[in-house]
Amino acid sequence: MADNDTNRPDTTQKMSPSATISIGTRQAELPVRSGTIGPDVVDIRKLAQDLGVYSFDPGYGETASCQSSITYIDGDEGVLLHRGYPIDQLAMNASFPEVAYLLLYGELPNAQEYCDFRENLKEHALLHEQIRNFFNGFRRDAHPMAILCGTVGALSAFYHDGIDISNPASRDLSARRLIAKVPTIAAWAYKYSQGEPFVYPNDDYSFSENFLAMMFSRPNTRYRVNPVLARAMDRIFILHADHEQNASTSTVRLVGSTGANPFACIAAGIAALWGPAHGGANEAVLAMLEQIGKRENIPAFIEQVKNRESGVRLMGFGHRVYKNFDPRAKILQQTYHEVVSELKLAHDPMFDLAIELERIAVEDPYFIQRKLYPNVDFYSGLILRALGIPTSMFTVLFAVARTVGWVSQWREMIEEPGQRIGRPRQLYTGAARRDFRPFSNRN
Ligand code: ACO
Repeated sequence: MADNDTNRPDTTQKMSPSATISIGTRQAELPVRSGTIGPDVVDIRKLAQDLGVYSFDPGYGETASCQSSITYIDGDEGVLLHRGYPIDQLAMNASFPEVAYLLLYGELPNAQEYCDFRENLKEHALLHEQIRNFFNGFRRDAHPMAILCGTVGALSAFYHDGIDISNPASRDLSARRLIAKVPTIAAWAYKYSQGEPFVYPNDDYSFSENFLAMMFSRPNTRYRVNPVLARAMDRIFILHADHEQNASTSTVRLVGSTGANPFACIAAGIAALWGPAHGGANEAVLAMLEQIGKRENIPAFIEQVKNRESGVRLMGFGHRVYKNFDPRAKILQQTYHEVVSELKLAHDPMFDLAIELERIAVEDPYFIQRKLYPNVDFYSGLILRALGIPTSMFTVLFAVARTVGWVSQWREMIEEPGQRIGRPRQLYTGAARRDFRPFSNRN
């Protein structure tokens, strides 16, 4: 690993006081655990044993479901760290495979490690030729997320018997295969929907150049990779690589905790990501801009948004976790301007509309008072549109990037000492015990 010891993170855990929980006259002393940074957690594992009760937290919003050293978020401060490194430093200076290596192995690679990792990903980017056959089974108008989810799941049929998740080398191989093959499947899902021939990975390109080439090369034209656009693509991948214990990552961990095939685990993560509440907001930004149509309609639209009765929201603004600013949005705002300038899109009505909408919203007291700022989705949708990527592919690209986070979190979970199957409890509100009655005794 490249970093010297002085740059290694301090992961020593601080000692913390315990918490006392009382129910009537019964009391339980529960340990409070501290991480390196961030809020402490009350370790409630003895709650049922000591007090005979469980905790209740639907949606797990207040529950730390695991211990992790991969990603740290402080929503109030707008902080996102991967293995301790701020997201803006990574997005502006590193490549996506470098960030993938960091997330997987905990340290930035040195030059040799990076080179080996890249070569290895290139080797694994090809798909088994039989996987081509799967595509023909999909309707030609199938959503690319359906194709991605189904085909990644199908990889488990190609890589099953040889997989031993208790073996670190086997886990590593699965992780690298997934990071390398998911982009190929994603690009082929697009090609299939377009009725165009599949484009094979090209080792001469960087990770993001190769992805764009697999998306846009055609047999009758030579695709020239624009470095500004490839860099924008790379940044979008970096910014979506991991976001700690979100719904899809928690899904991957839960499925993985059963010992399931890693390719099946990632297919489950893709299914979770597909939901509009998770991966679909950047699509909604473009739909909103199309609905607004032109500059003159912005004030009326903003009034509609501010009227709570209308139920209309300014898509791409606000975030559940980031309450001051989304650190990813700042980077993509800059990237967006680079792309607009490179492609000379300043006069495109959609881009003009987006810039004006943002300007009005960030100066409006309604948004300022509620701490509503543009989030990562406001810009990512616009950039992807400028790159020529159709909206149906937006969540697919998110999945390409997030595969890195999923496999890193999956590996960490499997490697945890005493790892056991995820099994939440419930508050039962159905009928109490009653006896079966035959039809003749039912009303
Ligand atoms: N437009 C207008 N008003 C908003 C918006 C918005 N986008 N977001 C929040 N508000 C208002 C709410 O109406 C509420 O107002 P009130 O205090 O008068 O009742 C106040 O701001 C607080 O809103 P909450 O719903 O409590 O904020 P929450 O944290 O629950 O919601 C969310 C976060 C869901 C992201 C929300 O901001 C939203 O719907 N944004 C638009 C959709 C979007 O861009 N989602 C992508 C998020 S980024 C990502 O997931 C990768």
